[in-house]
Amino acid sequence: MSAFICMWACFLLRISVAAAQDKTPDASVTCLVSEECHLPCTFPPAPNQSVRWFRQDVLMFSFAETHGESKTLVGRAAVYPPMIAGGNATLVLREVGLKDRGTYRCRVHTSQGEHNAKVVLKVEAPVQGLSLELSRLSGYEEMKCTVRDVFPPPRVTWATEPPTFEDLRPITRMLADKRGLYTADSRLKVLKGQPDLIYICKVTTSYGGPTWTSSLRERAITGSEGRDLTIPCFAPPYLNSPTLHWSFSNGEDPAHILTYDSRSGHSHSAPAWERHAELDGFRVPFGDGSLRLMDPEHAHHEGTYSCVFSMPYNTHTERTDVAINTPTANRSTSGQTSYWWIIGLVVAVMVLGLAAMLVYLKLRGNTAKPSSRDPEEETELNSVKDVEGESETSKRFAAGGNNGQSGLS
Ligand SMILES: *[C@@H]1O[C@H](CO)[C@@H](O)[C@H](O)[C@H]1NC(C)=O
Repeated sequence: MSAFICMWACFLLRISVAAAQDKTPDASVTCLVSEECHLPCTFPPAPNQSVRWFRQDVLMFSFAETHGESKTLVGRAAVYPPMIAGGNATLVLREVGLKDRGTYRCRVHTSQGEHNAKVVLKVEAPVQGLSLELSRLSGYEEMKCTVRDVFPPPRVTWATEPPTFEDLRPITRMLADKRGLYTADSRLKVLKGQPDLIYICKVTTSYGGPTWTSSLRERAITGSEGRDLTIPCFAPPYLNSPTLHWSFSNGEDPAHILTYDSRSGHSHSAPAWERHAELDGFRVPFGDGSLRLMDPEHAHHEGTYSCVFSMPYNTHTERTDVAINTPTANRSTSGQTSYWWIIGLVVAVMVLGLAAMLVYLKLRGNTAKPSSRDPEEETELNSVKDVEGESETSKRFAAGGNNGQSGLS
């Protein structure tokens, strides 16, 4: 029994002694996937150096000053020999991958003694960005948040602004590729009856680091051609002095409209939009990035307008489908009907006038026309003339004058 206790005590003692001999404390290094990584190992320089690096106790690099050569068993790993002379045996590992994670040991022998260093290597693929979009592919509307090529596996959570009491039940799928990097795809059904809600997708990783957020609000508005229209866009309260970017798309690639930097107060708009889009720069710092669309045209300004507030790690997007009605087209159709109405009226007036003229002419003809073509009437007139005498000649004269005029014209 006492021998057993001694065995344990001696074992523990040996461990603590060994630990005390390691002068350099264990180092922990976190490197980014596919980048270059430095595993530190420094020692007091002395003659006759030999350096060996082990990964999980397997030799991966050795250098012996006596032979003057280094040998690497992992092509991507090297120690720069001139550095070793100065007491620096730092291992440089290129194009780090997840499989390089683990514990590394540096063992240095010199004429002065032995030096050991232990380095724990963590490899990380940080979040580079999130994409959040509204998808209708599955038959109902859902928000789809995607984050690619991340390690360790990210954690995706959802929120709304303003907060809702409804239970958000996202479905998140996590897939790892050959390199071991994760792609997370999280979908959340759009809540019914709450059209103006902002959906926020948040991504964190267990290595710490910043929380990434991406939020989205979708809406549709209708304007009229030639009448100024305000396209609303408001930043959620958690974004401070963001950069604002407006763009437009109508099936083609998005076109830049304008950019506004809240910090500098500088704005820049694309020449094509200068006369049609305006931002109230004083209101942007207060989260109001609404765009005033001036003199909009159906042909050029109908489409989707995207407003993106961005900060490092955070973006908020408002996507507005803008329809521009064409009252000119309506006016021209109504104009056509009134035009026809006017034509109808003119024709009616002309017909009436013509009829009136005919009636007048007929009446006048009845009273004044000589009826040389109507022998019966002539004889009647003659008989009257015979009765009335002198009035007959004046009538004849008038009729003759009439005939003469019509002959001339
Ligand atoms: C050791 O060498 C590496 C490059 O091989 C360098 O990055 C590092 O700064 C050096 N360390 C010291 C303490 O000089």
